[in-house]
Amino acid sequence: MKRELANVIQGRETSDGAGVKIKRSIGQHQHTRLDPFLMLDEFGSQSADDYIAGFPSHPHRGFETVTYMLEGHMLHEDHMGNKGHLKNGDVQWMTAGKGIIHSEMPQQEEGVMRGFQLWINLPAAEKMKPAHYRDIPSAEIPVADLPQGGTIKVIANQATINHQIIEGPIQGLTTEAIYWDLHLPKDKSFTHSIPENHHSMIYVYEGSVAIGDQKSPLKKGNAGVLTIGDQLDITALEAETRFLVLSGKPLNESIAQYGPFVMNTNDEIEQAIRDYRAGVLTD
Ligand code: CO
Repeated sequence: MKRELANVIQGRETSDGAGVKIKRSIGQHQHTRLDPFLMLDEFGSQSADDYIAGFPSHPHRGFETVTYMLEGHMLHEDHMGNKGHLKNGDVQWMTAGKGIIHSEMPQQEEGVMRGFQLWINLPAAEKMKPAHYRDIPSAEIPVADLPQGGTIKVIANQATINHQIIEGPIQGLTTEAIYWDLHLPKDKSFTHSIPENHHSMIYVYEGSVAIGDQKSPLKKGNAGVLTIGDQLDITALEAETRFLVLSGKPLNESIAQYGPFVMNTNDEIEQAIRDYRAGVLTD
């Protein structure tokens, strides 16, 4: 059964960190999460004022973040001594687990900075596992030509294109997260199977798409949450259409969130705050 567009979450302009302008769709508030996805931010500006202040030192606990840089240069540094330069097309995968303290600071004073940060929840059993961090250079992320035109970049999980399995660099998550970046020419369609038990969404960042049998377009800057089904069928409505496919197995657990801490209960949130204040969040 084809997945159709169930509802649209309009990306909203807001700011985060020390005043970085972002467009937030998933995760504006608790009703706009899509289990296991907690939040999706697009950052994109040609004006340094919108990003230069960056994200100075801050903590996380209980989930994972994926930062995908389309254009620009950002430096990640964390309490474990990792230093990662994130440039055009690179991905950074960070599992906060029991605790990470890091900063994400622009390494440019002009020009375009553009990309995405996605927050993926961890199941209760994994929320307190040790923090982990991985830089994935663009060259290690496979891009395949689609039979009808366009390309797919497989960041997480896998895709099957022309009977060939394309494995992304990120594998084996409990949430089975799929993260694809697609470019499609106008009027071309992308069809692919998708696990039926997943929650799936499309985030359009250039152009617009039609989903399933519906004619109404999903436009740039919006997240389209899909109905349940086992087939994706997405058609580009404009010449340069670009979008993300995000899909994952829901955890169906309670969520307690306080800013950068995402746990199951309020007690666990209070513990995270106490641990951070006492300087033992990451111990
Ligand atoms: Co952070």
